[in-house]
Amino acid sequence: MTKFKTALVTGANRGIGLETVRQLAIKGIHVFATVRSLSSAEQLHKLIEQGLSVTVVQLDVCSQESVDTLAARLLSEHVKIDILINNAGVALDQWVPALELDIDLWRQTMEVNLYGALRLCQAFIPAMIADGSGRIVNVSSELGSLQDVQLGSTLAYRSSKTALNSLTALLACELKVYPDILVNASCPGWVKTALGGDDAPLSVAEGADTTVWLATLASGQSGGLYRERKIWPW
Ligand SMILES: NC(=O)c1ccc[n+]([C@@H]2O[C@H](COP(=O)([O-])OP(=O)(O)OC[C@H]3O[C@@H](n4cnc5c(N)ncnc54)[C@H](OP(=O)(O)O)[C@@H]3O)[C@@H](O)[C@H]2O)c1
Repeated sequence: MTKFKTALVTGANRGIGLETVRQLAIKGIHVFATVRSLSSAEQLHKLIEQGLSVTVVQLDVCSQESVDTLAARLLSEHVKIDILINNAGVALDQWVPALELDIDLWRQTMEVNLYGALRLCQAFIPAMIADGSGRIVNVSSELGSLQDVQLGSTLAYRSSKTALNSLTALLACELKVYPDILVNASCPGWVKTALGGDDAPLSVAEGADTTVWLATLASGQSGGLYRERKIWPW
C-alpha cells in the first residue's frame, strides 16, 4: 500500500514508460499517462480495459506550451500530482563517435532527456511543495555515470543523462527542507525496448522495477542514483 494517489509518467505509450504505468496502477495509484501522440496509446487503452485507473493525456516534453497546457488542465481539475516520473527519452546518436557528432542531434537529445525533465519538474513540483509531499524519479542510465566511462560513442545520450543526474542531485539538495519530497534517479539496466534493442537481457518489468520502487518509497533517501534498488555511483 502507498499513501500516494496520483502519478504522471512521461513517454508512457510504450517500453519502460508503459510498464511503469502498469506497475503503478496495479498499486492502486491513478496514473496520468502522457503520450506525444494520442493515436499511439493503444497499449494504454488495453490497461484501462483491464480495469486499471489510467488517464491518457497528450504531452510533448519538448514543448513548453504543451507542458503548461497539461499543468493548467490538471490544476483546473484540482489534481495534485504526487509522483512525477520523467521517463521520456531518446537515444539519437548510437555509435556516432564524439568527433563526428552533429551538434543539432546533441541539442535534440538534450531537449527531450534534460530540458523536458526540467520543464515537468518546474510545472509539477510547486504543488508538491505546497503540501510538503511528493516523489520525483528521473529515469537515467548507467551511461550517464562518470564512474567508469568506456568506449561506446554515445556522447549526446550519455551527457544528457549525466546532466539529468546533476539536475536530480541539485533538486534534491534544494528541496531538502521538505523531508517528504524525494528526488532520485533510476537506471533501468539494459532493457528490451525500441531504444534498448532486441539483444537487451532485461524485460520491461525488470526495467521499471527500480523506478516504481523509488516512486512509492514511504520515506527515505533523496538525491541518489539507483540501479536494482541499490545506490549506483554518479
Ligand atoms: N531501454 C534501455 O535499455 C534503457 C537503458 C537505460 C535507460 N533507459 C531510459 O529509459 C527511458 C525509457 O526508454 P525505453 O527504453 O522505454 O525507450 P522507448 O521504448 O524508445 O520509449 C521512449 C519513450 O519516450 C517518448 N518520447 C520521446 N520523445 C518525446 C517527447 N518529445 N515528448 C514526449 N515523449 C517523448 C516516446 O514517445 P513516442 O512513442 O511518441 O516516440 C516513448 O514513449 C528513457 O529515458 C531511456 O533513456 C532505457
